[in-house]
Amino acid sequence: MNELQKKIIEVKKQKNALLLVHNYQVAEIQEVADFLGDSLELCRKAQEAEDADMIVFCGVDFMAETAKVLNPDKKVVIPNAKAVCPMADMLSMDVLLDAKKKYPEAPVVLYVNTLAEAKAEATVTCTSANADKIVKKLDAKQVIFGPDKNLGYYVQKRVPDVELIFVPEDGHCRVHRFFGDGEEAIKLKAENPGSEVWAHPECEPEFQERADYVLSTGGMVKRAKTTPAKTIIVGTEEGIISRLQRENPDKRFLEAKPYAVCGAMKRITLENLYMALVGEEPVVEVPEDIAGRARVAIERMLEMS
Ligand code: 13P
Ligand code: SF4
Repeated sequence: MNELQKKIIEVKKQKNALLLVHNYQVAEIQEVADFLGDSLELCRKAQEAEDADMIVFCGVDFMAETAKVLNPDKKVVIPNAKAVCPMADMLSMDVLLDAKKKYPEAPVVLYVNTLAEAKAEATVTCTSANADKIVKKLDAKQVIFGPDKNLGYYVQKRVPDVELIFVPEDGHCRVHRFFGDGEEAIKLKAENPGSEVWAHPECEPEFQERADYVLSTGGMVKRAKTTPAKTIIVGTEEGIISRLQRENPDKRFLEAKPYAVCGAMKRITLENLYMALVGEEPVVEVPEDIAGRARVAIERMLEMS
């Protein structure tokens, strides 16, 4: 541990703060986390945070907002308010409300990678770890789904009888689109006999088809422990590699393509984390009329998965 990490742990203890960290954060932040996980696991931890006096969220805006929605009376802090997920911004309220008007019978399933205002219009939210199960459980003919079209492809393949209506038409994550059809990953697999290729459901359909497993970041953490493969080619944001390597020193984790970096996630640094803990800002706020409706959709997801 470096000096700043030690100070962070000390202040965190003094303030009884709960430090929630997403798998894409840099290694030094992962190392000081109270809980490190994927979007779904972090929602659960936020829901169970009643003993903490403050939540400090090292992730992107929609994740911190979700923590606030689940804990309206608690102070929730994000170390850099500019950690904004571009995919969450791709879904405009106009597009969402138009789709609801056009398909009044269709339930609305929104990826947690959306802003609280959009979640307030959803029947239920989902993450990449539970999207297929949630859509299946709704047992509907048509489902309004967004904003990630590639996650939609993943769901459609596993729940073929449902028609997904995408909002917007082509929502995506630039970091995962960058892997393209997975050509580099397949080349690496050929160079490393016995290796396994993983793709996140936000990757393009062609890459999903070529991968050995399509997994959420939490799914990757679990499979890393059980896979017989000694070399794994990882198709998601590079921050997770440090965790996989730390927890599985006998295996080798390679980036499916170099420089798959989420700029939004990387806006959080050890320095601004320390400042946020000390100054207890920037504070995340969600107006209660929106939070109340968004909470219904998020809690429904937690019940259904
Ligand atoms: P996970 O839910 O798999 O952690 O993914 C979150 C995310 O933002 C992927 O880009
Ligand atoms: Fe958003 Fe993509 Fe970054 Fe995930 S990796 S937070 S979807 S931009």
